[in-house]
Order: sequence, then structure tokens, then C-alpha cells
Amino acid sequence: MCSPEHFAVEYAINPWMDVTAPVDPELAVKQWDRLRETLVQLGHEVHLLTPERGLPDMVYAANGAFVVDGVVYGAQFKHEQRAAEAAAHRAFYESQGWRFIAPSETNEGEGDFAYVPDAHGGLVLAGHGFRTELPAHAEAQEALGRPVISLRLVDPRFYHLDVALAAIDDGNVVYFPGAFSAASQKVLAQLFPDAVIADDADVMAFGLNLVSDGLNVVLNSEATGLAEKLKAAGYHPVPVELAELKKGGGSVKCCIAELRH
Ligand code: ARG
Repeated sequence: MCSPEHFAVEYAINPWMDVTAPVDPELAVKQWDRLRETLVQLGHEVHLLTPERGLPDMVYAANGAFVVDGVVYGAQFKHEQRAAEAAAHRAFYESQGWRFIAPSETNEGEGDFAYVPDAHGGLVLAGHGFRTELPAHAEAQEALGRPVISLRLVDPRFYHLDVALAAIDDGNVVYFPGAFSAASQKVLAQLFPDAVIADDADVMAFGLNLVSDGLNVVLNSEATGLAEKLKAAGYHPVPVELAELKKGGGSVKCCIAELRH
């Protein structure tokens, strides 16, 4: 995770960002800190990246890489405003001794890649259409040695996979079908017949931008409807308020890069 000390909305690279709307960085830090504490209370270890001035989106740490089985596939950001973030993530992984594979294709890490370890022996789900480019899906498959399922995103409001789909345990996902092309919806229905299906209100509340440890599902507190659905499906929703960071077009998942040994 990376503190939003320098968080701001200075440019607009997704439809949620409004450069004229005021942002309260202090409140952003407070809310982010609650998220960090929540993860620690749930028993997770949190490593911190040092935020850098001039990189206001660095708080969205999920975009810096994608890690499976101890192998790190690095990010290459689409927009130049965020390009320099990749080096900070790379330095973190290299200093910690992770095996780092540098990308040559545009991809935004866990923003567009999700991992479902128990689905067909370990599947990578990958979004394209707005940020991550299709050749990066093939590159990720070669880097990680896991099948990569390409899913086409079609709604600019849901510009990253992780705002439209999330793994809720080692074998299942929750997703909003309307974010995907008709063919990709068919692929998801075939692979995950028991998926939890989210609706318009869930996705607009950034509910799908969640992290789950298989039981506890940490999600944006505005997503009350999705929390109910997850509860009914046997999960334990843990709501966290992240209204300031929503102004940049992100929530819980965007703030967390998962380290998978
Ligand atoms: N403002 C950031 C961008 O548009 C938000 C990134 C959100 N991160 C995510 N994993 N979806 O790039």
C-alpha cells in the first residue's frame, strides 16, 4: 500500500476524475489509514511504498505490478502522468528479493489482472479495452505460466478489470456483467457458473473494487447492496469508507497490491 499523502486530482484519465472538484488529502490519508488498520486487524501483513510528490495517483498501488506464485510481472502505465510509478514498484520487489519480470507491453498490473488459484488449477483473468493492451495478456501468460483469460471491457466508467470483477475466494468471483462485451460475459458464465452477480448500484458504489481473504470481504462502505449479497452467499463483508479516493476513480482494491508467494 502507498499513503495518499500527495493525493490530488490534477488530471483526468478516467470518467470519475473531476479536476474542479475539491479533494481533502488529509481526509484521504485518514480513510486510507483505516483501510490499512482493517487489513492488519484481519491478520494481514502490510508493506508500505514511500509516496512520491508529483505522483498523485500512487496511492492506487494495485496498478504497479501483478504477482503470482512469487513471480512479479511489472506494469507499464498507459498514461504518462503515471509512468514513473512503475519504477517505485520495481524497486520494492527487487529489494525484497522477488523475481521481477519487466514488461514490454502496456499493462496496469492488478488493475487489469486478477488471479483465481483454484479455478481450473489457477487462472488469470485479464481485462483489456481501456488501459491494458491485449499483447500484455500473452506476455503475462509467458511470464507467469498460467492460462490468461482475456476479457473485453466496454464501458469507460469501468476502465479497469478490478472495478468490475473481483475474486471472492480461491475459486469464485463476483462481477458486473454490463462492464464486459457479450462474448466476454459468455466466457465468465462458462468459467464461473456460481459467481455472485453484481448490479448497477453495486458497481457504481465501487463495491466490486474489493479484497477478500476468502471469508472477510473488505469493500467500499457505500456498496451496501453488494454487502448484503455477499453475506447471503456466506461471506463476511467488512465495509470501509473511502469517499476521497473515489474521486480519483478507485477504492479498496486499487489501494492494495497483493503479494502472492
Ligand atoms: N486515477 C487512477 C487512474 O485512473 C485510478 C486508478 C485506480 N486503480 C485501480 N486499480 N483501478 O489510473
